[in-house]
Amino acid sequence: MNGNELLKINGVRVIFEGGDASGNVTAVDDVTLAIGEGEIFGLVGESGCGKTTLAMTLLGLLDPNGKINTGSLMWSGTDLIKLSEHEMRKIRGKEIAMIFQQPQMALNPVYKVGHQMMSLLKLHHQVSTQDAERESLQLLKQVRISDASRVMGAYPDQLSGGMAQRVMLAMALSCRPKLLVADEPTASLDVTIQAQIMELLLEIRENFGMAILMVSHDLGVVARLCDKVAVMYLGRIVEIADTKELYSKPFHPYTKALLDAVPLPDPEHRASTPVLEGDLPRQTEIHGGCRFRTRCPSAFAKCEKADPTLMALEGAAHSAACWLLDKEMAEESASGSSGFIETTHERVV
Ligand SMILES: Nc1ncnc2c1ncn2[C@@H]1O[C@H](COP(=O)(O)OP(=O)(O)OP(=O)(O)O)[C@@H](O)[C@H]1O
Ligand SMILES: [Mg+2]
Repeated sequence: MNGNELLKINGVRVIFEGGDASGNVTAVDDVTLAIGEGEIFGLVGESGCGKTTLAMTLLGLLDPNGKINTGSLMWSGTDLIKLSEHEMRKIRGKEIAMIFQQPQMALNPVYKVGHQMMSLLKLHHQVSTQDAERESLQLLKQVRISDASRVMGAYPDQLSGGMAQRVMLAMALSCRPKLLVADEPTASLDVTIQAQIMELLLEIRENFGMAILMVSHDLGVVARLCDKVAVMYLGRIVEIADTKELYSKPFHPYTKALLDAVPLPDPEHRASTPVLEGDLPRQTEIHGGCRFRTRCPSAFAKCEKADPTLMALEGAAHSAACWLLDKEMAEESASGSSGFIETTHERVV
């Protein structure tokens, strides 16, 4: 990453009308984060916390009952939220591309892979059939498909999951986007193929300088790939830091619980805090206060009263939305001491 900001998500709130039997669901709630050029940014959290909604918001692909209530999405000086569908189409695919968990679903089952790739290239680059074919073969080779000609002649259902994801990546690369949004791209693949796709993503970033927003609930994948991570809980970012910092010094009790849920091979290093209990509550069940308090082992009186926003931890590019931080800071300033709160985690990224 060269340090330049590529995308700035500013206070974005997304509401699904009628999203819950008892009313609307605020799937993304006041999210602010920035992705730098060439940066691989991880977005993690349990199922239903709003990861896909945020990804779809970036691409202007929310379901019809989804509305962006507040905020801005700044992209090269333009607020994507203010663009018409016609204007958004010039950015989607060309500047911001996306790959999904189920690659086969994104491919049209009735056309051969080659036909689909060539149509895309002809549409975006107005090239001849011959050039589109040559470019398609080259793109497939770039994503490490050795028998590119056979794959061009195959129908999507004749491809394995890993092969289909490579094809999707090749199609995403065809316009040299500046940002690739990858929503659980390896979740449906077995571990060896998963590892190959991860290597490929790293290689793509290296070769093309493309930034990646990596949506995942797999903390192992995120640790391997990402430069920075944001942890989401019930629509909110509750912690954000560089990957190494987050994994070695998690602050938020939710982040600690997520890390503790990752199986470790060495029983000597089993988690010292209990694994998170219960399911993600429905938003309508949380009435004010911190939204994690119902499952938080460290909740105290203040957590009932107000919802914390992200606060910076001392001496690091690391923020957490947790009243424990406020409490510690007050205690530190009262005792005149300083320093980071001790955690029991010793993880190597
Ligand atoms: N079209 C929709 N209408 C109503 N509610 C929706 C809609 N799409 C998503 N939601 C709700 O928004 C919340 C966030 O869902 P989202 O799919 O963004 O979560 P996620 O973090 O991607 O989960 P997963 O890990 O399972 O993919 C959930 O409560 C979900 O039920
Ligand atoms: Mg999702």
